[in-house]
This record gives sequence, structure tokens and C-alpha cells, in this order.
Amino acid sequence: MLMGDPSSESSLEVLLGSSQVAARVRELGDEISRDYHGRTPHLVGILKGAWVFMADLVRNLVIEVTVDFLGIQSYGAGTTSSGEVKITKDLDVSIAGRDVLIVEDIIDTGRTYQYLQGVLSAHKPKSLKLVTLLDKSSHRAVPVKADYIGFRIPDVFVVGYGLDYDQKFRRLPDVRYLRGVASVPHPSRPGW
Ligand code: PRP
Repeated sequence: MLMGDPSSESSLEVLLGSSQVAARVRELGDEISRDYHGRTPHLVGILKGAWVFMADLVRNLVIEVTVDFLGIQSYGAGTTSSGEVKITKDLDVSIAGRDVLIVEDIIDTGRTYQYLQGVLSAHKPKSLKLVTLLDKSSHRAVPVKADYIGFRIPDVFVVGYGLDYDQKFRRLPDVRYLRGVASVPHPSRPGW
């Protein structure tokens, strides 16, 4: 049931406040720094949604890292994303033999991550893991799991802190949700 106009900021409620997000990102930074101690992981941010989270995450790491970005655009069909993606920006450097940590803003159906696992594994990284700020596991269509999870969230439509609706709201400093909406059609992903 749609209770508000998804394109209006006044329809949004705070799900995760900015200080709550900052505290959790610090914890993730500690955990990743511990786990990769003595190594230099290669962080691959998935554009566009992950860029805000990744910028904060790297500033909470006490190990050296290298970074790259992969731009993808999902195609949707039916009621969920299909996992078919178009690469809009390829990796700049080889990931062969590297400890690769994919950085995502959200895992929803899991189809994007499943696709990424296939594509990136083919380039023979030494290891391949995923950190996601948000995990909407109740909406999973394929059995994928993140290695590091910021927050498990219910099946609500979220924006802010990098996440968008029709490219809007990425600038919001916190994670907000549209009241009463489990999911709404995503303009850039029909049927999302
Ligand atoms: C989001 C997110 C993931 C994907 C997850 O990207 O960044 O890449 O959806 O969804 P899934 O688990 O159902 O496949 P989106 O398509 O919204 O693009 P954006 O990052 O450019 O906003």
C-alpha cells in the first residue's frame, strides 16, 4: 500500500540515524582491519549506491587498502531484479591474486551479488568477500550471504546515505524509508 509520494522527502521516515550508521561503520572498519591484518585488500565499490558508505568505511580502516569501482546498471523484469546487469564502468586494474572486498550499499534479492561473484571470480582473485551496509535478507531470491553486514533491515523501501529513488535522496546523511511501502516500482529498474 502506497502511503506517500516516493519522490517527496516529507514521505520519508528515518530508519537508521546518521550517528547509528557512523558507529556501525566504525565497528565494520575495526572488524575488517583485524581480519585483513598484514594484507592490503583491494576494495571494489559498486556504483553508484556504495560510494558514500565506501568513503566512510575506508576512513575507519587502519590497514592499507587499494580501491577501485565497478559501475553497473541492473535490468529488471517481473517483480524483482533479474540480475542481468550492464557494466557502465569496468575495473581499472587487474584483481588477479588480490584479496578483493566488494563494497555494496544493499543486498536485496541477491541477484546482483551472485552475478558479481561469477564475473569477478573468473578473474582469479586470491579471495573474494562482500561487505554490505544493508541486508534485506527477507527479500532474497538466490542464496547469497555477505561476509560483513552493517544492518539487517526489514522489507522496506530505503533511500539516503548513497541509496536513491529515481536518482534522488543519495545526499541524505541517514537511511530513511517510505512509510507503509514494502517496495515501490524503481524507475531505473522496472518491477524492482
Ligand atoms: C542496488 C545495490 C545493489 C543492488 C542490490 O543497486 O547497489 O547493487 O541494488 O539488489 P539485488 O540484491 O536485488 O540484486 P541499484 O540497482 O539500485 O543501482 P545504484 O547502486 O546505481 O543506485
